[in-house]
Amino acid sequence: MNSKMLDLLSTFLVIGVLIPIIYLTSQNFNNIFSLTILILVSVPTIMAMINGAPFVPTPMDRVRKMIKLSKIKQGDRVYDIGCGDGRIVYIAANEYGAKATGFELSPLVYIYALIRKFIWKSKAEIKFANFKMKNISDADVVFCYLLPECIDKIQNDLTKMLKPGTKIVSYAFEFPEWKLIHKEERDKKLGLAPVWIYEKK
Ligand SMILES: C[S@@+](CC[C@H](N)C(=O)[O-])C[C@H]1O[C@@H](n2cnc3c(N)ncnc32)[C@H](O)[C@@H]1O
Repeated sequence: MNSKMLDLLSTFLVIGVLIPIIYLTSQNFNNIFSLTILILVSVPTIMAMINGAPFVPTPMDRVRKMIKLSKIKQGDRVYDIGCGDGRIVYIAANEYGAKATGFELSPLVYIYALIRKFIWKSKAEIKFANFKMKNISDADVVFCYLLPECIDKIQNDLTKMLKPGTKIVSYAFEFPEWKLIHKEERDKKLGLAPVWIYEKK
């Protein structure tokens, strides 16, 4: 079975099995166990949606373009802050030899990313964590796909934290205070959003 088939299977597993299990266990609110699971799953998911962005994966065409444009080298430290299903860090690690780490706050998406990590046999790390609490000062390249409200809040912290020369590659939304080094324009025909690339001075 190839990776694409396994990806489809894992999507089915999460949507068709995991979500119904969580739904069913959460039906009985007298059961403290069910309620705890529901809270543990839903609170971080809602936080991730409100504070960062909901889980909407970057189209694969764009992922490959973004990674190519970021000129990742073997051994580079790469982060995806809000990594979703891990698609960016897996390619960065498997095909470019990067030391790649993705942070994901939504439990279901995190589990999905772990299943995909197993399928891709990737050395990239997926951490169940709020990226805002993490020190990524050793980054060579940082990828993100976050809402403008979140970008506004993290821009200053990233400016202070990242070392000069670090590249920041943002899908769909820009970092308005940073000097752009490259912009990949929106592709209306293919429905692809722009890519914004910055380099920390
Ligand atoms: C728009 S998706 C992008 C996923 C992936 N980066 C991609 O490009 O395909 C944003 C992801 O960030 C996660 N997220 C949002 N806020 C976060 C936070 N503070 N810490 C970790 N993950 C977060 C969401 O759960 C969601 O999966």
